Amino acid sequence: MSDEKQDSHDEVPELVKNAVLVHSSPIPIGTPIVKGYDWNKGIDYHFLFETYKNSGFQATNFGLAVDEIHKMLNSRNIPLENDQIDILEEDKFIERKSSCTIFLGYTSNMASCGIRDTIRFLVQHKMVDCIVTTAGGIEEDLIKCLAPTYIGDFHLEGKSLRQCGINRIGNLLVPNDNYCLFEDWVMPILDAMLAEQKTKGTVWTPSKIITRLGEEINNENSIYYWAAKNKIPVFSPALTDGSLGDMMYFHTFRNPGLIIDILSDLRRLNTMAMKAVKSGMIIIGGGIVKHHICNANLMRNGADYAVFINTSSEFDGSDSGARPDEAISWGKIRMDAKPVKLISDVRIVLIFSADPLRFTQTVEVIIIDDTRNIGVVPTPTWCMVSDIILAAQSGIGCRSITPTSASEIGDLFIEVAASLSRLARGCRSVPHPLRSIGY
Ligand SMILES: NC(=O)c1ccc[n+]([C@@H]2O[C@H](COP(=O)([O-])OP(=O)(O)OC[C@H]3O[C@@H](n4cnc5c(N)ncnc54)[C@H](O)[C@@H]3O)[C@@H](O)[C@H]2O)c1
Repeated sequence: MSDEKQDSHDEVPELVKNAVLVHSSPIPIGTPIVKGYDWNKGIDYHFLFETYKNSGFQATNFGLAVDEIHKMLNSRNIPLENDQIDILEEDKFIERKSSCTIFLGYTSNMASCGIRDTIRFLVQHKMVDCIVTTAGGIEEDLIKCLAPTYIGDFHLEGKSLRQCGINRIGNLLVPNDNYCLFEDWVMPILDAMLAEQKTKGTVWTPSKIITRLGEEINNENSIYYWAAKNKIPVFSPALTDGSLGDMMYFHTFRNPGLIIDILSDLRRLNTMAMKAVKSGMIIIGGGIVKHHICNANLMRNGADYAVFINTSSEFDGSDSGARPDEAISWGKIRMDAKPVKLISDVRIVLIFSADPLRFTQTVEVIIIDDTRNIGVVPTPTWCMVSDIILAAQSGIGCRSITPTSASEIGDLFIEVAASLSRLARGCRSVPHPLRSIGY
């Protein structure tokens, strides 16, 4: 074998070297490094969620979505300037209440599944300003106040279920009797609404109907109970496309004449967007809820912040699947915004994204339980005493301290009592109880 031939076997050919071992340009300083959570450090949900952003793929988008929601909340916490206080607005539901109006959109199935309870929590604590959902998103919440929805299986046979009078939503089961209970409950309300239309000239819009249903259900488990109580408007332009529509259809035979005006609601929704100092959109799922909120934000030349969570792809040209960049092209999101699309089943991520929200602006509150254990719980300023106690009992985010003297224990008791009573009264700012004793 010649020397020349020997060389060609020993060395990687130049062509291959140039193709495979291309030299890199330096990575800009500050570029995040991929790193996951170190479970050896125990379970700390706050740090666990923080690692998402640098974990890659949809976990990164999850982290970015949380950041984007934090931006909305920070913007919301800036007090309104004097000239921004909405003194002229007579409609308390749409008046400008903060420096960032947060629009929440969700599809019907979110009320069918357990996400309903997360949404109820956000509405109960006034963390959103405006809701857009579809008909099922209204009725499923109300029906759950009358009778439960059950966990079944995606593969249960339609024919057998039909023979048993059981309806399937994904892997959830809703007995048909639930809808009969709903009919019994809603028909007299429709009668009363029609009477008010005839006698007082009430113009019923989907949002006014939803407020009325929320008042009538009078149940703290309901999203719409809290929406009515907290004057958060709920829009549903296709309110007839569900069981509620079936009831309204039956009502046209039993007691005809009820009229629903959708245009007045469009004006209400668009006015909210136009009034917003800053605007944020959190849209879970797609379809009408996504477009209706985006379109309202077109009226103000685009939202400042946006998070879309859905499983839809853009390849079919659907609005559901469209990335936020498409909405920028239409003027529905501002050109300088940093919107995030998180591609995931909402059920899996929303519960977690709500959790970091709980810990956004924390104060520390001491908890002393029956056994006189003392713990410190990072607590959102708006949370309920029962939430803090639950957190303390579960030990999540709790750290123990040992007071060194009897007088410190006495001071702690006084401070705890004062903090808890402030929280119970709904006070937004709670002094740090430990700081006062120099902890
Ligand atoms: N429980 C129900 O789903 C229900 C009940 C009664 C009536 N309806 C009616 O059916 C019609 C269509 O329902 P819709 O507009 O509420 O939305 P939809 O169920 O048609 O969903 C729209 C899109 O949202 C996305 N999406 C939905 N669920 C998701 C999830 N868990 N995770 C991620 N992405 C998700 C998907 O891209 C989906 O294509 C509405 O008029 C509604 O009133 C639905």
